[in-house]
Amino acid sequence: MKTLLILYFLTVAVWAVKHPILKAQQDHSRITITNDDISSHLIHTYDNPVDGCWESLNCTLTEIEAMSMASRLEFVKYLSTWRLDKLQATDQFHAFEGVITFFMRKDIAGPGTWLSLVHASSVEALQRGAAISLKLSKETGGNPASAKWADYFHQRRTGRLTDRGPHDLSWAIAEQSAVDYGIRRADSALHVEKPSARILRWMQFTRIYRTSMQYRRTILWIMKMAFTFTSPSVPMAAEAFIDWVTDVTDATSIGFLADVAWTLSIVGLSQDGEDPIADSEVMLKIATEFWEVFQMKKSIGGDRNGGAVYRRENRKKPAL
Ligand SMILES: *[C@@H]1O[C@H](CO)[C@@H](O)[C@H](O)[C@H]1NC(C)=O
Repeated sequence: MKTLLILYFLTVAVWAVKHPILKAQQDHSRITITNDDISSHLIHTYDNPVDGCWESLNCTLTEIEAMSMASRLEFVKYLSTWRLDKLQATDQFHAFEGVITFFMRKDIAGPGTWLSLVHASSVEALQRGAAISLKLSKETGGNPASAKWADYFHQRRTGRLTDRGPHDLSWAIAEQSAVDYGIRRADSALHVEKPSARILRWMQFTRIYRTSMQYRRTILWIMKMAFTFTSPSVPMAAEAFIDWVTDVTDATSIGFLADVAWTLSIVGLSQDGEDPIADSEVMLKIATEFWEVFQMKKSIGGDRNGGAVYRRENRKKPAL
């Protein structure tokens, strides 16, 4: 079903590319995010205590869950800039930043919520994976994704993840594993309200995103086979498109994805595809929205990650 959905998504995407006229018929409001939205969160004067667990990279799931989204953003930036540089992975988690700023814009995933717990699991796994890779600890925190991130860092250091195919596969597998674990934790947590249908649908979209990262090569191959003789330019355009949408070093593309998915999660996909017509409408909306943004992005070029640089001077020294 998953694979089908992705192929479906791409077919629709390609179709939308070939029928730009359709855009005029879209009646939903345009989703726009400027780099300013993202960078405004970065110049911060939060009073987050940069406590011991940041330094030793052993924050527990509970500790991370208790952090506000602003703190988590700061934490991820801190990790990227000051710890992951040794793992040659400084630019690998802008996608995380894009998702956090999306939560902040929508004011969702507040402390104690289901989504907050699921998200905390992602951050925990990244942090513990880094700690293992940096030989600071062997602790996984019981999070199966910790070892997967450690493996990702290992592969990256040994130069095995230079191509987008294996890179995206490894990245997406680690992240999906953290999300799945987070969901199990959140579902079984006491005093945590069940998520809304909209949040569940949003999660479903992000799963499609990670699945398309995993099947990147297959998707591109099928596209190539399908369009080589009719329109050879389509597979190339599709590749550039997928490259952009799934670029984990670009906080803006994932920010767009999250926003588009959130808007469309009001309607959502039918359960197990029992309503193909409604599903195609939703997919078409995603595809055209994305295609438009992608075109815009191509024409303006520009700043890849919205100036996402963690400023050391903003980081408080831990009281030792
Ligand atoms: C994290 O590591 C620090 C320094 O090694 C230690 O003092 C602290 O107890 C650890 N915290 C947890 C929750 O294991």
